[in-house]
Amino acid sequence: MESVGWFGEDGQFGQLWVYAVDISGEMVRRARMALANHDNVVIEQNSGQDLSVLGDIRVDFAFSYIVFQHIPSKHVIECYIREVYRVLRFGGLFKFQVQGGYHKFRLEADGTLDEVEPDSWIGVPFTDRDAVDLALRCGFEPRYRIGAGEQEFWLWYIRRWEWETRARRFLQRCWSRLRTRWDWWAGSE
Ligand SMILES: C[S@@+](CC[C@H](N)C(=O)[O-])C[C@H]1O[C@@H](n2cnc3c(N)ncnc32)[C@H](O)[C@@H]1O
Repeated sequence: MESVGWFGEDGQFGQLWVYAVDISGEMVRRARMALANHDNVVIEQNSGQDLSVLGDIRVDFAFSYIVFQHIPSKHVIECYIREVYRVLRFGGLFKFQVQGGYHKFRLEADGTLDEVEPDSWIGVPFTDRDAVDLALRCGFEPRYRIGAGEQEFWLWYIRRWEWETRARRFLQRCWSRLRTRWDWWAGSE
């Protein structure tokens, strides 16, 4: 799986299936060649921001390494996170890595330092807070984080069970109503 962007595993019925996508047709071609002997592996070229090419699959585990760190757009990364949420079973793990450090300057060949914006080499950076907010926005529990501030910022997101998501939303609504009432009461004192 060396050249493939990222993949998920579906082992629900005993047989392990591996699904993989990459935006590059060349990488997909190489990966298919390397894994030609495995009939439980599906490798597809995708749009660069969703998993629709894999259809309506369900997986227990999803993984991504040195892919998001090259993507310059937070929006595109969030699209992927939401797509993984869609295909991951409840309780499933998405382990992945994003750019955690912002290399604001690049050393040019002539020895000068150039200020850089995120691009397809140094992707958009995430802070620890960004990583937590992203998980919560997309319905995940941000279980572990390692490497904040570094190029390899690893994240373990768990897809919450439906009842847990509903219970959290309910509690959040109650909390915000309570706060509104408290603010009103404190203001009228
Ligand atoms: C540094 S390689 C890593 C490949 C593989 N994950 C590995 O560990 O060897 C980065 C890969 O990400 C793919 N890639 C870059 N942007 C992508 C995107 N928006 N969607 C899907 N794949 C992307 C590239 O085509 C390339 O194959």
